[in-house]
Amino acid sequence: MSNKIRIAVLVSGGGTNLQALIDAERSGKIKNGEIALVICNRKSAYAIERARNAGIRGEIVTRKAYGGQEGFEARMIELFEEEGIELIVLAGFLNILSGDFTDRYDHRIVNIHPSLIPAFSGEGFYGLTPHIAALERGVKVTGATVHFVNGVADGGEIIAQKAVDVLPGDTPEMLQRRVMEEAEWVILPAAVSMLCDRMTEERDRNNGCVQSTELQ
Ligand code: GAR
Repeated sequence: MSNKIRIAVLVSGGGTNLQALIDAERSGKIKNGEIALVICNRKSAYAIERARNAGIRGEIVTRKAYGGQEGFEARMIELFEEEGIELIVLAGFLNILSGDFTDRYDHRIVNIHPSLIPAFSGEGFYGLTPHIAALERGVKVTGATVHFVNGVADGGEIIAQKAVDVLPGDTPEMLQRRVMEEAEWVILPAAVSMLCDRMTEERDRNNGCVQSTELQ
């Protein structure tokens, strides 16, 4: 087994952020991490095809199949342990994880959110809704945020942000696309790469064991 940080990516939809991560790994932009597992919580999501096309283990895990949130999270934990996962990336994953789950992986779960947190974030803001709200409010600048995940929706420590202009005539779909292209697909791979570098350094310093407090 290689020495790289083993990453799980959790997805729910089209998986363009997953693709950006796969491409960054393949092109050497993520040097110290490897995507070892993709978990999708929706049966028909295209993201799972992207994983399989890239030769990455892709598993569909739905709440329904595992009898609710607790069973769903227990199955994910089982898969993380099976694959030796050290870093979990939520890339368009539209499920709110329990506090027990986020505490278990303190400073080991990161999320990409399509706004400049704290604007247009928290429960109810996902997918297109932050862009609809940004246009309704008339902001001139929006963007994307990568943050650690804790028990508060979109409330964890911010790792990276990138601003994107809102242009006259934008529809929510046009704005969503621009935020993805100019911000999400850039800052998510960059943040994952930086975290993997830091985790690798800490592991080397501690002779093979990374402690989550060192990522804070
Ligand atoms: C992305 O815009 C991502 O930021 C957003 O869902 C989209 C998924 O697209 N995530 C959230 O809203 C989380 N609160 P993708 O499946 O093509 O990566």
